[in-house]
Amino acid sequence: MLYIGVDLGTSAVKLLLMDGEGKIRKIVSKEYPIYFPHPGWSEQNPEDWYEQTMAGLEELLSDCDKSQVAGISFGGQMHGLVILDQEDQVIRPALLWNDGRTYEECDYLNQVIGKEKLSEYTANIAFTGFTAPKILWVKNKEPENFARISKIMLPKDYIAYKLSGVHCTDVSDASGMLLFDVKNRSWSKEMLEICGIREEQMAKVYESYEVVGTVKKEIADRLGIPETVKVVAGAGDNAAAAVGTGTVGEGRCNISLGTSGTIFISSEKFGVDKYNALHAFAHADGHYHLMGCMLSAASCNKWWMDDIIGTQDYSKEQDAIRKLGENHVYFLPYLMGERSPHNNPNARATFIGMTMDTTRADMTQAVLEGVAFALRDSLEVAKALGIKIERTKICGGGAKSPLWKKIIANVMNLKVDIIESEEGPALGGAMLAAVGCGEYASVEEAADKLVKITDTVEPEPELVEKYEARYQQFRQIYPACKPLFDVLV
Ligand code: XUL
Repeated sequence: MLYIGVDLGTSAVKLLLMDGEGKIRKIVSKEYPIYFPHPGWSEQNPEDWYEQTMAGLEELLSDCDKSQVAGISFGGQMHGLVILDQEDQVIRPALLWNDGRTYEECDYLNQVIGKEKLSEYTANIAFTGFTAPKILWVKNKEPENFARISKIMLPKDYIAYKLSGVHCTDVSDASGMLLFDVKNRSWSKEMLEICGIREEQMAKVYESYEVVGTVKKEIADRLGIPETVKVVAGAGDNAAAAVGTGTVGEGRCNISLGTSGTIFISSEKFGVDKYNALHAFAHADGHYHLMGCMLSAASCNKWWMDDIIGTQDYSKEQDAIRKLGENHVYFLPYLMGERSPHNNPNARATFIGMTMDTTRADMTQAVLEGVAFALRDSLEVAKALGIKIERTKICGGGAKSPLWKKIIANVMNLKVDIIESEEGPALGGAMLAAVGCGEYASVEEAADKLVKITDTVEPEPELVEKYEARYQQFRQIYPACKPLFDVLV
């Protein structure tokens, strides 16, 4: 049988076709625009996601035996707010995970309702990207839109709804809304009340590997697939990526270097970071995870390459980098403000330490290192909780760079396991579809059978030591700049 994984990303939707043995048959990618209507805001049109997903599905299935397609599932950019009216029309563009406009609503939630209450209700506190503050923003700033809301959904769930007609979500993605009682895997009545919304506006919550329904007839007809094709709930992109890299069960780690950068730690038991710097979310394997999320990771490198120095040849720029661990230039990667661990939408990106002999390669290196240092900030929080991590998987666009993987291994002092396919969320989505259709008994079984480690990047003691000294310098830069960031906005 054949299974489709849809990774609804921030720059593009990636679609992956996998067979029952886990062989990837085909991958298709379709881009869509992102809008930044004000500094720090980011929006996309859900209709663009749907159109490009359908176009991608047509291309994906163009040369396979369509009668063999059994299931489809998702990994999706998390936290985005999609609101539909009674006629199922999208009310306004979606506010995305890296949108920082809701700082007043976050202050209200964190200060007036209080972090302790939020953590008691949802296991998390408010961050500007989370969904609940966005709902409050629409309520406060666009009351006419708020009054029209019939359905509230997350990005990938909009696609699931268009394909199946079922208003559904899954536990991992629901966790990022700040409306979900993560420990008990159900909506928080208190949070719905605080946001002024009713449970019937919310989706029905499934485990990530559960079947929510089948494709609608018109979808089956358009794609030429059977009407029996199952739609499986899927997961937020980080939980889906964790499935795709085998980061399931107890104490495993995955780093994702996508538009965002995340460090994801799976756990069989529910646990909360008492400072709430790391998110405590439900995992797609039926258990839980902790996660640190930085808002700009591979996007920093893309910005530096495409927009600033104006090149598409990323490898050539990286080949010019020679002296690892000795760069005197530092880069704070906060192009969209920062989530973990600083929780500061006003934070901004900064280069510091240049001299007359600084080269273009030093600056490129500083960007790659700055992302690694910022990821280490979240790793340090996990270590302070007593979590021991020695190795990690890695996925996302940035993971294609051998140099970046080496920098990560040495800055974080982690063994970085390279897996056969770094397709992360799209593969995880296809694996969840396969589990939902009964091809594998559990997510763990699918991960054990399908994810293969092909190599490991080992940290090198001398380089680890050099980077340790650099990291200790890096971590002084943000506190020194913070007062300035508050007045620069
Ligand atoms: C996770 C987060 C990002 C998005 C990116 O909390 O906000 O990783 O899911 O797609």
